[in-house]
Amino acid sequence: MATISLKVNGTPCTVELEHDRVRLSEILRGQLGLTGAKIGCGVGKCGSCTVLVNGEPVTSCTLLARKADAAEVLTIEGLADGAVLHPIQEAFLDAGAVQCGFCTPGLIIRTYSLLRNNPGADDAQIVEMLRHHLCRCTGYLAILEAVKLSRERMAQG
Ligand code: FES
Ligand code: FES
Repeated sequence: MATISLKVNGTPCTVELEHDRVRLSEILRGQLGLTGAKIGCGVGKCGSCTVLVNGEPVTSCTLLARKADAAEVLTIEGLADGAVLHPIQEAFLDAGAVQCGFCTPGLIIRTYSLLRNNPGADDAQIVEMLRHHLCRCTGYLAILEAVKLSRERMAQG
């Protein structure tokens, strides 16, 4: 049985893989108990399982866990500061962009990635980002507003 070592939300972890095809999402949710990343489609289409691996957004349902050996992973659980929500999490709540919440962790993680790399992302870039995520509840307008509000609040520091 292969073993991988990775850092998840700043904490070093060593995980045994039951087989070669185990996905990162299975490790995070099943072995590490980090269930924030949701499994919607399981085939890389809906974005609900998005996490950052070495700073890049990836769909954890499609990434083989063995490819995350030695990686740094950030999940939604790593974004808040203890009980204090991250400004992006606050913005999603304030904009009414969270209904069932299934798509929300992945969207927030990708928003974090976008605004960290490009704090001045324009509206077209935000819309392009949303292309990677499916939401069955909100109709996307509230999500668009949430990302714009996140941009504003992040700029204020
Ligand atoms: S569950 Fe991974 S992209 Fe849909
Ligand atoms: S809030 Fe329900 S899927 Fe987006």
